[in-house]
Amino acid sequence: MTTLINGKEIAQNLRNELKQKINSLKTKTGKVPGLAVVQVGDVAASSVYVKAKTKSAIEVGIEVFDHHLPEETTEAELLQIVDSLNNQDNVNGILVQLPLPKHINEQIVLDSIHPDKDADGFHPLNVGKLSIASHNDDNLLIPCTPYGCLIMLKGLGVDLSGKNAVVIGRSNIVGKPMAQLLLKESCTVTIAHSRTKDIENVCKKADIIVAAVGRPEMVKGNWIKKDAIIIDVGINRIEVETNGELKNKLVGDVDFNDASEIASAITPVPGGVGPMTIACLLRNTTIAFENKEVR
Ligand code: GUN
Repeated sequence: MTTLINGKEIAQNLRNELKQKINSLKTKTGKVPGLAVVQVGDVAASSVYVKAKTKSAIEVGIEVFDHHLPEETTEAELLQIVDSLNNQDNVNGILVQLPLPKHINEQIVLDSIHPDKDADGFHPLNVGKLSIASHNDDNLLIPCTPYGCLIMLKGLGVDLSGKNAVVIGRSNIVGKPMAQLLLKESCTVTIAHSRTKDIENVCKKADIIVAAVGRPEMVKGNWIKKDAIIIDVGINRIEVETNGELKNKLVGDVDFNDASEIASAITPVPGGVGPMTIACLLRNTTIAFENKEVR
């Protein structure tokens, strides 16, 4: 029987735990964590994510400082806002939603966020700490999507040590930090990407596949070893014809129908990785607060 990994439920449990923790931190310190959410422009997907992040943060007791800036905002103006948030005492986490408009250099902006307030875990200092395996996860700011994937993997109760893990995709947001996290768990990690030769056979050797390429249903059922664990990070909108009508449908990077016949466990899309990303953002904000106020 294939286990359907219920990201919605796991994320809800994590949010419940955070809500309790924030409550007791409030009693202890008289303060609550603060998260600044910065969006530049009006990319539709970003607006959806920012809204969902804001709503979830408020629900667990985090104070949200919303900064929705016009598309024409210059890099200098954005850097000035980040600088003022770096110095704002009640802001513990800063999230600058990506992508930024083309005239703004994303890396310069991400580097300008104070590493202690780096709610996404994208600052080079936090990326470096993650790669030094001796750091304890409990107070590290770790990129949210890969950390959410790791929580789901650990929740299966499977010993990850020595497993062959293939991460498909080498982005700074998901692929690279995912590889670091799996390495930390003593997996043998391969990062596959668009230039990888014979990717199908690379995948066939995997005990664990984390697909984060953004290509609808790229990973086919026959790429998957019997009883492998499949984590699908992809969120792709495709058009399908139903009863002669074209309809939008969300699919992952994995052909779910075929893969779920072969895998021992698999995440659905939607309802898998997506909700975990937001829960882990709230976790990072709470960790940043604890690092400042309690530890
Ligand atoms: N855009 C897509 N995913 C993310 C994310 O995890 N964080 C930020 N800041 N922007 C994103």
